[in-house]
Amino acid sequence: MTTIDLDARLDPRELRNALGRFATGIAVVMAKDEEGPMGVTVNSFSSVSLDPPLVLFCMARSLNSLARLEKATAYSVNILHGTQKEISNRFARAGADKFTDTPCIDGSLGEPCLASAHATFECVPYAHYDGGDHVIFVGRVVHMRTEGEEDPLLYYRGSYRLLATLIQEG
Ligand SMILES: Cc1cc2nc3c(=O)[nH]c(=O)nc-3n(C[C@H](O)[C@H](O)[C@H](O)COP(=O)(O)O)c2cc1C
Repeated sequence: MTTIDLDARLDPRELRNALGRFATGIAVVMAKDEEGPMGVTVNSFSSVSLDPPLVLFCMARSLNSLARLEKATAYSVNILHGTQKEISNRFARAGADKFTDTPCIDGSLGEPCLASAHATFECVPYAHYDGGDHVIFVGRVVHMRTEGEEDPLLYYRGSYRLLATLIQEG
């Protein structure tokens, strides 16, 4: 029988590079509390369940806003358009002033939402799970909206991309 040495360390850079071959969209998670609004760029977003409607994203334990996000009673997940690269960069800067020049609207749960996102999912927390050096947030979608037919912003191997070719079936 083969034994697996779970303590053998994978090279973190190689792991990151290999994981970067999985192309993703980009979202900004937004919430607010008595200190004000908070927001984080994520590409760990995924759909989970249709019934009940659940989505997930993973937050690094090192985030300044992690404790506040864990206590949030509502948050929005805003999927970015291809024209919103600057918003992705702005919300990826640790501790930066992310909201001064960001067009936001109030969500129906009182949480901030990005104005003119490709799609917005307004969520209440469903569960938080241990995810190693990340926390896995599962949210229950209570409202959603979509806007425009432009391409989404994509992330692949450390760079932003746009959609290229539609593969026709049949
Ligand atoms: C394209 C992209 C995707 C990212 N995805 C994630 C993610 O899924 N989870 C995460 O914790 N941080 C992710 N980050 C990093 C965070 O956005 C960044 O650390 C965060 O904004 C810092 O927020 P803070 O001010 O709360 O520390 C990503 C950054 C970029 C540029």
